[in-house]
Amino acid sequence: MTDINIKRTQNSRINEVDWNNLGFGKIASDHIFVTDFIGGEWRDYRIEPYGPMPINPGNCTLHYGQTIFEGLKAFRTQAGHFNIFRPEMNGARMNRSAVRMCIPEFPVEHFVEAVKKIVEVDHEWVPRERGTSLYLRPFSFGTDDFLGVRPSQTYKLIIMTSPVAAYYEEGLNPVRIKVATEYIRAAKGGTGSAKTAANYAASMKAAQEAKKEGFAQVLWLDGITREFVDEVGTMNIMFVIGDELITPPLDDGTILAGVTRDSVLTLAREFGMNVREHRLTIGDVTSAFENGTLTEIFGTGTAAVISPVGELVYGDRVMRINDSKIGPVAQKFYDTITGIQYGEIEDTHNWIVQVNADEMAHA
Ligand SMILES: Cc1ncc(COP(=O)(O)O)c(C=O)c1O
Repeated sequence: MTDINIKRTQNSRINEVDWNNLGFGKIASDHIFVTDFIGGEWRDYRIEPYGPMPINPGNCTLHYGQTIFEGLKAFRTQAGHFNIFRPEMNGARMNRSAVRMCIPEFPVEHFVEAVKKIVEVDHEWVPRERGTSLYLRPFSFGTDDFLGVRPSQTYKLIIMTSPVAAYYEEGLNPVRIKVATEYIRAAKGGTGSAKTAANYAASMKAAQEAKKEGFAQVLWLDGITREFVDEVGTMNIMFVIGDELITPPLDDGTILAGVTRDSVLTLAREFGMNVREHRLTIGDVTSAFENGTLTEIFGTGTAAVISPVGELVYGDRVMRINDSKIGPVAQKFYDTITGIQYGEIEDTHNWIVQVNADEMAHA
């Protein structure tokens, strides 16, 4: 790849970090990776201090939302290395989102190099406690100063990062989820499988109303029949019914192809579980609950890894799952995936891209 020009900050903010109260996404690390798409190519790869960017009122993204993003994490190991979890999957997914939103693709190998470099430059920002990590947020958006609905001709791709706490302080905390019956998130032919701002903007009202009623998030149903289960706010959804692990398939293009989803399905097949990627209806879920075969429900996503659903509410039906406790299947996936991420369990799938602290010291 072309060189990455590095301009380090003279005013590090690392001393402002409250390491015991990181929360999620509250503070940005010192540096960002930036590249500009001008004249038909990505150019001027650089790392520079995090700070405000000038933006024109006519910036096309502010008006038409031509923007995509990603989310992945880097973990500090006991040996002092930095493990980035499956970055090439995020790079590939970002390109699929880019194609859908008419944004130019960025080579996956450059994406991985950029992610490694930003972790290397800001490695001191990777927190130390088990459960914490450095969250990486790549995003790309149109920069034309032009009013008119057409793809931008110029873009920026930026990677910012933020130290984050364990998602749940007590580890795996079962959440209450409400099935969305009034609003929809995606329909076949739409943008559901792209990680683009509009999907999240459109989801906020349902999530806000659900939060007021004490729910963590909503479970979306398909936009046409409102019968098939799609996914949760920022997680894919999995059900343990009888001896099967069931999750909605990706082929309708209405849900995000989660990296955690893929990791869980890969491990489940290796564990010898019966895995089914299957369009299941909310009716299938309620019947399985009523006949006692539904033993676990959990969400999968980068932020929480595994998030057990303790209660699922569909209209006036309240389904309390596994006595609102973490089930053994959810626990096993959580332990295995976090074990691989922190370098405690052997990475037999080549999921980890390591930034090596020793090499950095000698560079
Ligand atoms: C809508 C949606 N579904 C699912 C996921 C889970 O994907 P991943 O496991 O790659 O974080 C996310 C989070 O990125 C999301 O925003």
